[in-house]
Amino acid sequence: MTENKKQVTAAILGCGSRGALFCELMTKMDGAYRITALCDISDEQIEKTKKLCSVYDAESFTDRDKFFEKKRADVLAIATPDREHVAQAIRALELGYDILLEKPISDSREELSALLEAQKKSGRTVIVCHELRYGKGYMKCEEILRSGRLGRLYAIDASERATYWHWAQAYVRGAGAYLELSHPAILAKCSHDLDLVQNFAGSECESLSSVGGLDFFKEENAPEGSAERCFDCKYVESCPYSAKRIYIDLWHKEGEPEFVWPYNMITLQIPNTEEAIREGLRTGRYGRCAFRCNAEKVDNQMVQMTFKNGVKASLKMVYAAEAGRRFAFYCTGGEMIFDARMGTIEVMPFGEERETIDVKKLTGGAHVGHGGGDKEIIRELYEIVCGEKVAATSLAESVESHLMGIAAEESRALGGALVKVHREA
Ligand SMILES: NC(=O)c1ccc[n+]([C@@H]2O[C@H](COP(=O)([O-])OP(=O)(O)OC[C@H]3O[C@@H](n4cnc5c(N)ncnc54)[C@H](O)[C@@H]3O)[C@@H](O)[C@H]2O)c1
Repeated sequence: MTENKKQVTAAILGCGSRGALFCELMTKMDGAYRITALCDISDEQIEKTKKLCSVYDAESFTDRDKFFEKKRADVLAIATPDREHVAQAIRALELGYDILLEKPISDSREELSALLEAQKKSGRTVIVCHELRYGKGYMKCEEILRSGRLGRLYAIDASERATYWHWAQAYVRGAGAYLELSHPAILAKCSHDLDLVQNFAGSECESLSSVGGLDFFKEENAPEGSAERCFDCKYVESCPYSAKRIYIDLWHKEGEPEFVWPYNMITLQIPNTEEAIREGLRTGRYGRCAFRCNAEKVDNQMVQMTFKNGVKASLKMVYAAEAGRRFAFYCTGGEMIFDARMGTIEVMPFGEERETIDVKKLTGGAHVGHGGGDKEIIRELYEIVCGEKVAATSLAESVESHLMGIAAEESRALGGALVKVHREA
């Protein structure tokens, strides 16, 4: 940290995968942040985070009420399961924290308004963790659209393609499969996409319709004679969802990394070992047959949207061979396609040469952390808390895109009926 730079103190609530990542990114920012407190219902997660980030001086709390007895830092990063977010954020605002809040915020219109009201009353900042807004590829697309080089935007075709095994991990085997703990898939998986589409459209969404279903990850589609757990199953070497193939074979193929996602979801042992991963799969949720988890969420969903300024958009949420969002923009004077998997933006003005932009060059080669967005949002948070910058996206804007997700679920439940995003007063 350069001399005279303010040091921002930070507390982390929820020290799982995302909370530990925030802590790691903060501690790598050259003294800009100091971690003062860690809170998680699991002592093991706190200890893991302390070890990973060498934050041995931070206070530890497994009792949330004790943690919330007073303000313990300038900033609170909330990375707990979805359904905890709003209540915890409101408590934090009452204590005067600025907040980095993991998405999705909520699947309830009432909770969204309550949070917005609490934020306005407190005068504090709430940044919802839409880190893709800070991804260089998305920023470049926005710059080109706003420049007018392609004329006026009239349609967007977006796809969020999760790798097939990632889908199974997050929304079939993981806690994200169940609505008691987490929000519907269109909010859990696509709140970033709804936020981006809304931002690119440059207007509020007026109405939308949506269809989708839980079509594949259910017991009737389990291979014949398959077992409850992968290690007991005759398809352990052939099924694409075999936990052995996903978490052990891939871990070896990737050079046996010390402690990285997704293997750090299976075991908290640092460094990871094959035996620790095997044990995690033998006993934990990720070693279960992907067709026998009683998953509750849809495994595919499509949304069609109309914005107040006339822009139309479609969004597909699917599982695929390889991950990577794809955004096609149709404008009156040209077309542009951002393919995050290929790392390219193709800019195609009508009647002119096409330009291909290599996104890796924009990110300095960064492939991890959502195209560099995770690191950027932590940097941005620092500048905002220091009063050097105003947040690029407001809580009100994040609430708006969450309302789109809520409306999409309402439409899906109605079999694809057209739904207004804002309810009539
Ligand atoms: N921004 C993104 O791109 C992105 C990516 C993945 C996950 N997420 C979101 O981040 C949040 C956390 O996800 P994760 O993958 O880190 O999950 P995780 O399960 O790895 O971590 C959650 C942690 O919260 C703890 N916890 C549970 N209830 C708690 C409570 N009431 N108080 C304190 N701690 C509690 C758990 O013990 C666990 O350590 C979720 O809302 C998820 O949707 C966002």
